[in-house]
Amino acid sequence: MNNSSASQLVIFGGTGDLALRKLQPALYKLQREGLLDDVTTIIALGRSANSNDNYRSQVKTKMQEFLPKHFWSEQHWQAFAAKLRYISLDVNTLKDYHVLADAIHQYPNSRTVFYLATLSTLYTSICRNLHSIGVVDPRSSVVLEKPLGHDLASCTEINHEVLQVFPESNIFRIDHYLGKETVQNLLVLRFGNALFGPLWNSQYIDNIQITVAEDIGVEGRGNFYAKTGALRDMVQNHILQLLCLVAMEPPANLRADTIRDEKVKVLQALRPITVDNVKAKTVRGQYTAGVVKTTAVSAFLDEAGFEDSSNTETFVALQADVHNWRWEGTPFYLRTGKRLTRRYSEIIVELKKHPFSLFEGDPNDLPNKLVIRLQPEENITLYKVNKKPGLGRQLKLEQVELNLDADIHDELQAHEAYERLLLDVLEGDQTLFMRRDEVEACWAWVDSIIDAWQNAGTKAKPYSAGSMGPNASLALPEKSGRSWHE
Ligand SMILES: NC(=O)c1ccc[n+]([C@@H]2O[C@H](COP(=O)([O-])OP(=O)(O)OC[C@H]3O[C@@H](n4cnc5c(N)ncnc54)[C@H](OP(=O)(O)O)[C@@H]3O)[C@@H](O)[C@H]2O)c1
Repeated sequence: MNNSSASQLVIFGGTGDLALRKLQPALYKLQREGLLDDVTTIIALGRSANSNDNYRSQVKTKMQEFLPKHFWSEQHWQAFAAKLRYISLDVNTLKDYHVLADAIHQYPNSRTVFYLATLSTLYTSICRNLHSIGVVDPRSSVVLEKPLGHDLASCTEINHEVLQVFPESNIFRIDHYLGKETVQNLLVLRFGNALFGPLWNSQYIDNIQITVAEDIGVEGRGNFYAKTGALRDMVQNHILQLLCLVAMEPPANLRADTIRDEKVKVLQALRPITVDNVKAKTVRGQYTAGVVKTTAVSAFLDEAGFEDSSNTETFVALQADVHNWRWEGTPFYLRTGKRLTRRYSEIIVELKKHPFSLFEGDPNDLPNKLVIRLQPEENITLYKVNKKPGLGRQLKLEQVELNLDADIHDELQAHEAYERLLLDVLEGDQTLFMRRDEVEACWAWVDSIIDAWQNAGTKAKPYSAGSMGPNASLALPEKSGRSWHE
């Protein structure tokens, strides 16, 4: 092939959960829509010996398991499978890379995208070895999965090493939440509607809440999770990214760096959490045995025999304060946890009530709330107050939900976050990816909380599986007369 726009995709960790459950189905769906025509080959890598055909049937089995039936077509699958190739390689063994080099050189005019779907501790070795075998050129790019490192020091070191081989403009640091349709719609909601712009500040917004709740436990990730905890696993990436998009100033244009500049400013404005305020601003929890939906489940400590876990938090709630002109006085309540009542992610923007109420005493005289749901369904709803219909003399209120959705519910139009992100990587658009300074600023804030917990001796409080976290989490907004939206 002599096509200058052709690409090939190399997936390190091609046999892993992420590759089989998310990346390959997303690539297949792009192929189905004719968006993968320029991709010549998809080379999957893993340590185990495997033939191309075996790998293809492994992908097909997983795809039929995870992809809704209406997306399946044997004709599209055949065209997709023809691009798939498997190579066995241990990322730490240089001699294993020569087969990969030969495969890449079969398409000398193609741009190569290296997707690192492995633990980030392997990224340095992968980048050095790719450089050694001479397969990285100025057009090559690299995708880095989250979490990038374990703290600021390890993240900085990985970034430094990757930057020895790839320029920042060719590095795509993924947070798949940014690929969600509703997250992108949040920018349009804020900056495309005159209705919301003037209200989007501490004068009119009372508080903002971000919840990422999971009903599952650690599910075989026990060893990783015991050393990680909810703060590093969820707040450092997904939750801080959502906070940035809600809180940032309007960018001057839609260029990737202009938007990322604004996000970094939010992170820089986060008031540090220190040993002096850690008790008032944070709650750490760990689940004990309980019932999630109707199933009895074990305590975190009984789920697996991993070490160093007695104080691992499986739940965290925080009050974050964005210390700038726009947000001073509006708290951002953030919480995430495992084995909670149900699985959902949402952002709540709660407006202040009128300074004077005509309807005082009516229990439905409630503040307006904008509810941005990201999971399990994606939609945007405005909670407003109406007159309850009827002929009664006294006005009665009722709260109603106004659906502000884009029409994203057509099953055939629905796109997974990874489809959007893979397409952007192939097209070289970095807007929905994190820049180095952004990800390092996130770690700096999270590290300061971990240091404060250590210095204050903060312990994880028990909560029953199936609840919404420790009671202390309820008290976090209640201290200032607020409450979590449930
Ligand atoms: N799974 C998800 O939904 C998800 C979501 C967000 C982020 N991530 C991130 O994505 C990355 C991968 O996660 P995962 O869940 O797919 O992990 P996983 O199921 O444990 O898979 C790990 C992959 O890495 C490969 N690997 C490990 N050591 C290797 C080595 N020395 N040489 C070559 N290959 C090696 C494994 O291949 P072999 O065992 O065949 O050698 C396997 O393909 C992690 O950084 C994770 O945090 C995952």
